[in-house]
Amino acid sequence: MKRVRESNKLALLCGVLSLLLVFFGFGCVQKTVHQPPAAKVSKTVTKKSTTSVAKKATKKAETAKTSSKVSKKAKKKVVVAQNKPGHRNLYAVTPKPLTLTDCIRCHKVEFEDLKYHGAKHQTVSCTACHTKFHAYNPLKHNYKQIMPKCSQCHHNPHGTNPAVQNCSACHQNPHEPLISLPKPAKMANECKICHANIAAEMKKHPSAHAQLQCSDCHSKYHGRIPNCSECHQNHSPLVKMGTKECLVCHPVHTPLMISYPCNKNMNAVCAGCHSKEYNQLKRHHTKHSDLACAQCHPHHAMYLKCRQCHGLPHGKALAKKFPNCQTCHGSPHNLNAVSAP
Ligand code: HEC
Ligand code: HEC
Ligand code: HEC
Ligand code: HEC
Ligand code: HEC
Ligand code: HEC
Ligand code: HEC
Ligand code: HEC
Ligand code: HEC
Ligand code: HEC
Ligand code: HEC
Ligand code: HEC
Repeated sequence: MKRVRESNKLALLCGVLSLLLVFFGFGCVQKTVHQPPAAKVSKTVTKKSTTSVAKKATKKAETAKTSSKVSKKAKKKVVVAQNKPGHRNLYAVTPKPLTLTDCIRCHKVEFEDLKYHGAKHQTVSCTACHTKFHAYNPLKHNYKQIMPKCSQCHHNPHGTNPAVQNCSACHQNPHEPLISLPKPAKMANECKICHANIAAEMKKHPSAHAQLQCSDCHSKYHGRIPNCSECHQNHSPLVKMGTKECLVCHPVHTPLMISYPCNKNMNAVCAGCHSKEYNQLKRHHTKHSDLACAQCHPHHAMYLKCRQCHGLPHGKALAKKFPNCQTCHGSPHNLNAVSAP
């Protein structure tokens, strides 16, 4: 490390020295030291010299940019120092800790992992996690010991169940903590630990879906939402339905707890399985034809009685004589044309 710093410094000094020589040679020191733009400088130089010299001068002018803050006095001192090899002034520096930019010069892989898939770990600097680094000693087998521990910053994010304590079993690369998760099928036993409510709900309301693995539907990657059409046909092709529309009636984790809004557009969905009633209402137009099926069938397979909507329109006496309204009116889907009683 020290050697690297020393040779850098030397290179800088060489640059400064030759720069001074070149500029004194062309007599344009004043301008360039205070006005760095390299292009300008090289133009001036080209006029007076060959192209190869111009190139060199450009390079040196660039060096001048970085060192232009160094005062003339200091420069002189440095020149003296260089004339005496091994002079102590070379060590009159206080080394600064490596910055992120320094780390990533050598650790491109980790840098790119964090850059593209670091998620919220992008907000954490290398050394916040790596409080120790460059301390691996194969003789001591201390790799694990010096590597950061998740518990430095995270405390039971998934609870205390022993099955979710081995962080790196799932977050396989700390530099890309989310995309390095295993395929859902490999976590199938753990879903219920983190999604306890859903697992419990499915158990409580048995259905064909509860017989499936969570990862049969949430396949490919964690959190993926499947489409119903991956496994089902539309039972009511009169209506174009995507997953969103199916979910209106079927809560997917408890698909038999069917509920639907009171909306006439849904009639065509019912028609997929009850075409007889649907067609009767349509062909034989009465005021019932303008109703949503759900008005009379608010839940699947149940129905309201005529009286719940109509009361006793012909009085108590008639109702007593003919307790069933359908004796005269026929089917609610296909009301008879009756004449006055
Ligand atoms: C959120 C914490 C965290 C951050 C931020 C982080 N690292 Fe790491 N890094 C780790 C952990 C944990 C390991 C050990 C992985 C293992 O066990 O294989 C590791 C391993 C490494 C390794 C060893 C890789 C190998 O193949 O042996 C290098 C090199 C490294 N990190 C460099 C960096 C650099 C450079 C940065 C910043 C750009 C950085 N890390 C940021 C947590 C972090
Ligand atoms: C001049 C190049 C260089 C720089 C700069 C550098 N490293 Fe390294 N680092 C290496 C080399 C070489 C290894 C050993 C080979 C390997 O594991 O990639 C290493 C290994 C590591 C390791 C794993 C082994 C261990 O002993 O810790 C970590 C972690 C690490 N570096 C972190 C960092 C961090 C953090 C920074 C910035 C603060 C940094 N490095 C800056 C070259 C560098
Ligand atoms: C130096 C502290 C530190 C260490 C060590 C650390 N993390 Fe983090 N981690 C954070 C911070 C900060 C966040 C962002 C928290 C937030 O904003 O909610 C985070 C977020 C995460 C996230 C969520 C990322 C996202 O974008 O939602 C995961 C997953 C994660 N860490 C896993 C790990 C694992 C696994 C380890 C051990 C290998 C680890 N972390 C070590 C500081 C750390
Ligand atoms: C069985 C696999 C598994 C294990 C083991 C595991 N995680 Fe996770 N972790 C996940 C999944 C899946 C997510 C959700 C990721 C998402 O948001 O898509 C997650 C999310 C996170 C998050 C961000 C969301 C939150 O709840 O705050 C953090 C932080 C995190 N994990 C840290 C850890 C740490 C620390 C450990 C070790 C104690 C650990 N994880 C162990 C699978 C796991
Ligand atoms: C270690 C804990 C953990 C495990 C194990 C886990 N998850 Fe998650 N999961 C989470 C967390 C935390 C979130 C919330 C992430 C968010 O809000 O962005 C989440 C979110 C989800 C989501 C919702 C995504 C969205 O877009 O809203 C689904 C779906 C999901 N997980 C399914 C599963 C399945 C299936 C399994 C098993 C294969 C599983 N999870 C295993 C922690 C876990
Ligand atoms: C038949 C396929 C299927 C099965 C099996 C299934 N899911 Fe889902 N899951 C879905 C669909 C579709 C959604 C989107 C639901 C929505 O948007 O209303 C979803 C949403 C989720 C969500 C995020 C939304 C929420 O309700 O919080 C989580 C978490 C989740 N499922 C976890 C699980 C877990 C855990 C299991 C196993 C116990 C499981 N799922 C089984 C299809 C399924
Ligand atoms: C991974 C495949 C898969 C996906 C995705 C899926 N299902 Fe299923 N579903 C099944 C299987 C398998 C059955 C049982 C056999 C059958 O009825 O086809 C079933 C049965 C059902 C049942 C009858 C439940 C019972 O217990 O009889 C309903 C309702 C249902 N699914 C609705 C949906 C809806 C709505 C979606 C989308 C939100 C969906 N399914 C997504 C596989 C799936
Ligand atoms: C208007 C409400 C409604 C909508 C929207 C709806 N369904 Fe249904 N679905 C039902 C009813 C009611 C049943 C019959 C349940 C029974 O047999 O008791 C049913 C039954 C099912 C069944 C059981 C097997 C079968 O075919 O008989 C599956 C699977 C199913 N639906 C999938 C879907 C899918 C996929 C979608 C979206 C394309 C969807 N459903 C949209 C109401 C609806
Ligand atoms: C004005 C109220 C009303 C409307 C609107 C209505 N129904 Fe009915 N439905 C009933 C009543 C009342 C019964 C029970 C009487 C009977 O058995 O004839 C019934 C019975 C049924 C039955 C059981 C089979 C049968 O014929 O006995 C099915 C299936 C049915 N309706 C489907 C539908 C569908 C599908 C729609 C919409 C297209 C619909 N209904 C609209 C009132 C209605
Ligand atoms: C996927 C096919 C399917 C769809 C869609 C469907 N049903 Fe059904 N329906 C059935 C089956 C199968 C039965 C008989 C089994 C039962 O009682 O659950 C039934 C029974 C009924 C009954 C009671 C029949 C009786 O004899 O008592 C009514 C009322 C009914 N459905 C109304 C509706 C309405 C209203 C809709 C639309 C919101 C609808 N159904 C959508 C399949 C379906
Ligand atoms: C959900 C409530 C509801 C139920 C249940 C119901 N109806 Fe109706 N019915 C209506 C409505 C609303 C009208 C239209 C009233 C109006 O526009 O004045 C109507 C109209 C009628 C009419 C006049 C039809 C016309 O086209 O002029 C008859 C007859 C009738 N209902 C008979 C019945 C019989 C019989 C039953 C039981 C089998 C029944 N209704 C069940 C709501 C209902
Ligand atoms: C003995 C036969 C008979 C019985 C039983 C009967 N109705 Fe009627 N209902 C009629 C006749 C006839 C009309 C007049 C038809 C017309 O005006 O076109 C009528 C008309 C109606 C109307 C339409 C009223 C209007 O103002 O347009 C409704 C609603 C109705 N009945 C509901 C019922 C209900 C509900 C029951 C059972 C409680 C019932 N009816 C029982 C014969 C009967």
